[in-house]
Amino acid sequence: MTTIGVFDSGIGGLTVAKQINLLLPSAKIIYFGDIAHLPYGDKSKEAIVSYAKKIGEFLIDQNCQHIVIACNTASAFAFESLKRHLYGKAFVYNVIDPVVEYVLNNYSNDKIGVIGTKGTISSRIYPRKINKKSSVLKVTSLATPLLAPMIEEGFFNNNISKTIINAYLSKKELTSIKAIILACTHYPLIEDAISEYYGKSVDVLNTAEIVAKYFLNKIGNSVVVASSQPKHQFYVSDYTDSFKETSQLFFGEQIKLTKKNIWD
Ligand code: DGL
Repeated sequence: MTTIGVFDSGIGGLTVAKQINLLLPSAKIIYFGDIAHLPYGDKSKEAIVSYAKKIGEFLIDQNCQHIVIACNTASAFAFESLKRHLYGKAFVYNVIDPVVEYVLNNYSNDKIGVIGTKGTISSRIYPRKINKKSSVLKVTSLATPLLAPMIEEGFFNNNISKTIINAYLSKKELTSIKAIILACTHYPLIEDAISEYYGKSVDVLNTAEIVAKYFLNKIGNSVVVASSQPKHQFYVSDYTDSFKETSQLFFGEQIKLTKKNIWD
């Protein structure tokens, strides 16, 4: 059976797991949310690489043949190290390359905005990757560190979230953009509020959908169909009731989070 490991700092990566499940329903998903180390957005590269390696080893032990780093921050800091670390054991994917490819295929001569954690934005991974292939696309970035914790706490679709989102989106960095990359796997949950702010003038890029389609193209033909409906598994390195409630919104259906200590 094809087993896909998906991990994030918390439950944001469930937005990616949800889209993968929609497109590849016969593959089994094993999810790991590293809630004990949340947020990754302000951790050092060294810390994130060490977390990613440990989680990668855990997912290999669960027989995952494919591992998706469903976190922009970890993709920016740990993708190359994890790929090397798991070489010959599993194929490793990040959430940045599919979005970069999408932008290059769909825009030219435009200004593209990127919002994400401090880590993702300070790594400059999006402008570097996009401008390596296109010198005419302009990429402008803004760190929006309040958004992921706000969403994890269940604040979206209310006045507080709207005020914070609008305060960020009205910053000068994001003026005159043609599209905005939601460069954090938590942000699909506030996609509607962002689209509402812009009206039809700016394309809001739902990166979870883009990543899942890219992944389907890469592995779709090789998926070994399970004889019965696969039972997905969801692990977290720490557990609170608020995560339990919010995780359903992220994955779109009721799921059971199992606490798992992989650090000892
Ligand atoms: N989901 C993570 C990302 O895509 C951000 C959350 C965090 O800071 O841990 O970057």
